[in-house]
Amino acid sequence: MEDLAPRPGDLEPIETASRDELSALQLERLKWSLTHAYENVPMFRTRFDDMGGHPSELRSLSDLSRFPFTTKADLRENYPFGLFAVPREKIVRIHASSGTTGKPTVVGYTANDIEMWADLVARSIRASGGRRGDIIHVAYGYGLFTGGLGAHYGAERMGCTVVPVSGGMTERQVTLIQDFKPRIIMVTPSYLLSILDEFHRQGIDPRESSLAAGIFGAEPWTNAMRREIEDAFDMHAVDIYGLSEILGPGVANECVETKDGLHIWEDHFYPEVIDPETGEVLPDGDIGELVLTTLTKEGLPMIRYRTRDLTRLLPGTARTMRRMEKVTGRSDDMIILRGVNVFPTQIEEQILKCGGLSPHFQIELTKANRLDVITVHVEALPEAASGEHRGASAKELAHHIKSIVGISAIIDVREPGGVERSAGKAKRVVDNRPNDS
Ligand code: DLL
Repeated sequence: MEDLAPRPGDLEPIETASRDELSALQLERLKWSLTHAYENVPMFRTRFDDMGGHPSELRSLSDLSRFPFTTKADLRENYPFGLFAVPREKIVRIHASSGTTGKPTVVGYTANDIEMWADLVARSIRASGGRRGDIIHVAYGYGLFTGGLGAHYGAERMGCTVVPVSGGMTERQVTLIQDFKPRIIMVTPSYLLSILDEFHRQGIDPRESSLAAGIFGAEPWTNAMRREIEDAFDMHAVDIYGLSEILGPGVANECVETKDGLHIWEDHFYPEVIDPETGEVLPDGDIGELVLTTLTKEGLPMIRYRTRDLTRLLPGTARTMRRMEKVTGRSDDMIILRGVNVFPTQIEEQILKCGGLSPHFQIELTKANRLDVITVHVEALPEAASGEHRGASAKELAHHIKSIVGISAIIDVREPGGVERSAGKAKRVVDNRPNDS
């Protein structure tokens, strides 16, 4: 793989500032953000008043823990524009979450917010090994989802040539990669795997492609998957994190020279990790739910937003900013099976240990005799698709899941192409248990 580490002078001064400088900037910005939310958003005003605190009383960053949390339900209750902190005419862009149930959550950006977002995605692309002048293939979906347009504006800001392919039409994705020769691809890891299959189907060796780095996010993926992707494409695979409520892609990004977790762009977001049960702030290093506060957002300031994503905070390495460990999963996606907590990422790790299986999988939950049953639907690799091979792979996977994750799962090894694909975020868990349970 190519050496993509940044060259001296590539970084912004804040990325290597002292921790004290960064904290001072955070405190100043946090005061501004709390005041902005208090003065312009009725919900925040009422809540801060109820708590008996005023933003001006904030003396240190840790004082933030006295302020109330914000949740997705708050966005729903204030649908569509009730949490905007500026007059609607100042909002230049709307995005919304897909929201499988009920109304979507709507977010809005001012012109300055869009600038800041583009800057942070550009910073993320640079951290991933992208350079001015690169061709970037953007296969995140364009539209209300923040992935496509978020990546697009950042790539333009970086001075790259953007190919705005969006998701889907997999055959064409491969053609365009072959013809335009991008150095960077931005896409969900699960959709990249479909693109990989298409390379093989067309008889093209992906290791010979022009791609030098991929920037993957919008869904959890493991270090085992990183190795799989890096090996298949002979490119660097780097993690990008974000969520619409806070920004979109570009809240945190891994650095290609260390690949040791995602540096949170702390000059714009203040992270905390809490115990999801008690709400208590946990010390750095402890696993819990990530809570984020925006420090500079005008349109939709978010104070202590509960992301539901589980991770832990670690000290900075390649940058001054703290890192978050790769997200294990969302608390919503946690499966509790006879007392054992299971995340789809744990199943992914075990699948990737089995030589005869492809990384496409879906977990189905059902009930039999009042007991929860977990079935892992997974695909055989083309060279291991015979009945005998599939039987052996099923046994191997069941064994790994039992001995490492600690649960008994039914394994359904399908023929290649037998597991549902998505062109964006993969749906990893299908819950077919009756509602009354
Ligand atoms: O997925 C924004 C995004 C687009 C991030 C493209 C990265 C790349 P939402 O649709 O609002 O926004 O979904 C946010 O996706 O709370 C996490 O649960 C999950 N997620 C996002 N990035 C990662 C990641 C975009 N790198 C939700 N690892 C978040 C694990 C991720 N989960």
